[in-house]
Amino acid sequence: MTTARISIDRSSVVATLNRRIFGSFVEHLGRSVYDGIYEPGHPAANDDGFRLDVVELVKELGTTTIRYPGGNFVSSYRWEDGVGPRAARPVRRDLAWHSLETNQVGLHEFARWCELTGSELMMAVNLGTRGIEAALDLLEYANGEAGTALADQRVANGRAEPYDIRMWCLGNEMDGPWQIGYMTAEEYGTIAARTAAAMKTADRTLELVVCGSSGSNMPTFGDWERVVLEKSYDHVEYISCHAYYQERKGDLGSYLASSLEMTYFIDTVVATADHVKHKLRSQKTIQLSFDEWNIWYLDEHQASEEVNDEWRIAPRQLEDVYSVADAVVLGNLLITLLQNHDRVTSASLAQLVNVIAPIMTEPGGDSWRQTTFFPFSVTSRLARGEVLKPRIDVGSYDTALYGAAPLVDSVVTVDTETGTSAVFLVNRSQTESIEVSIDVSGLDASVITEAVSLHDADPYAKNTLADQNRVGLLQLEGSVLADGTLTVTLPPVSWSALALG
Ligand code: AHR
Repeated sequence: MTTARISIDRSSVVATLNRRIFGSFVEHLGRSVYDGIYEPGHPAANDDGFRLDVVELVKELGTTTIRYPGGNFVSSYRWEDGVGPRAARPVRRDLAWHSLETNQVGLHEFARWCELTGSELMMAVNLGTRGIEAALDLLEYANGEAGTALADQRVANGRAEPYDIRMWCLGNEMDGPWQIGYMTAEEYGTIAARTAAAMKTADRTLELVVCGSSGSNMPTFGDWERVVLEKSYDHVEYISCHAYYQERKGDLGSYLASSLEMTYFIDTVVATADHVKHKLRSQKTIQLSFDEWNIWYLDEHQASEEVNDEWRIAPRQLEDVYSVADAVVLGNLLITLLQNHDRVTSASLAQLVNVIAPIMTEPGGDSWRQTTFFPFSVTSRLARGEVLKPRIDVGSYDTALYGAAPLVDSVVTVDTETGTSAVFLVNRSQTESIEVSIDVSGLDASVITEAVSLHDADPYAKNTLADQNRVGLLQLEGSVLADGTLTVTLPPVSWSALALG
């Protein structure tokens, strides 16, 4: 059997865990909001129209910060449409997804949903069709103390206390020609800097995210980050990264190694941000907000008819059904985010419900967990304390896209307060089980309290409406902890997690 050795240097701490790394994203797109989190009339809906079965699944998933309301949607959104008496709210065309927006859910409703799920609201402002004034108005409306016109409007609309939203995205993917109002780096850097400076004048404690590239495959990647940061550096805390992965042309080997691409992406943005830091002689270090990441079969959607000339309310769009292999890749991407947690301090799985989502719903019917639900929920539940990047000695395999890819990847967390730790592992081999010996002598661990794995004889097995529990977590059989060594056998194409006490 193929073997691997992992050693953990207790002093090689990447960062203390910031739970914002387990963020997600709800966009007014397809059935994410309408017929997703919100479905008045559903038997499980509360008086506000929110499905409580979905709320329970979101809590189980363990997401933290939720980015809202887009995405491409935000770039032509008028936030004022979504506040005030519902009967008076306008129906508008959403140009980004070619659908009708009823505005029955807006800031107040979504903030209530965040309270229900225990989430932190992360807000995006429209820098596509709008600008500084609309951003400042939204900030005053959302966060202002009563006594000014817009804050008083919020109070009149039923919310006395300010929402105190901390994280704000300065637009969305403004480098993309598909974005309503997209710009050059110079144009965007200028408007982002001005908007950020104005928002900071209102509240200097805000945490602002400037748009980075919408993918490392963009022709402007790297240069975009440099130009935008040169203009906005002093006013922002984060630069965003967006990345989606999919298996192409049956090349499962490259797909399973998608984390190598994410690592390259992170390294490039960190190097660029630090270059600007030194060029500007700044004391501040910019963090990365990986506020869109996931598996997305974008090629198939682009070839489909799902975005068409009709103007529909909550059409079925981007409803990817995920496989075991997709879940393994997603689990590995989360490992990568944790390995880089010193710089990636916020992240949003894009998205949460129905739209490229770990949670699916049927109108009037069930809600269920996709395969990708499991690695996310277990990682969010078990990861605690300090993040450690282990040393992994293992063979590699050749990939068409990334060259040699290590067969195993891993990250570890240690909670000194409770004396517990967790090990997360991926086996990228399509054919071989791999026996991994992990030196945990530095972790103070004496017992395995949990050992779970996601794998299947069919790496393309999925959970569907008709078969909602086809794929689930399995026990990782045969794991042994003795004399400071944890020995596990990882099945082919698998993601696994072990909790130690
Ligand atoms: O998450 C789906 C879309 O992907 C978002 O609206 C956009 O920001 C990105 O291109």
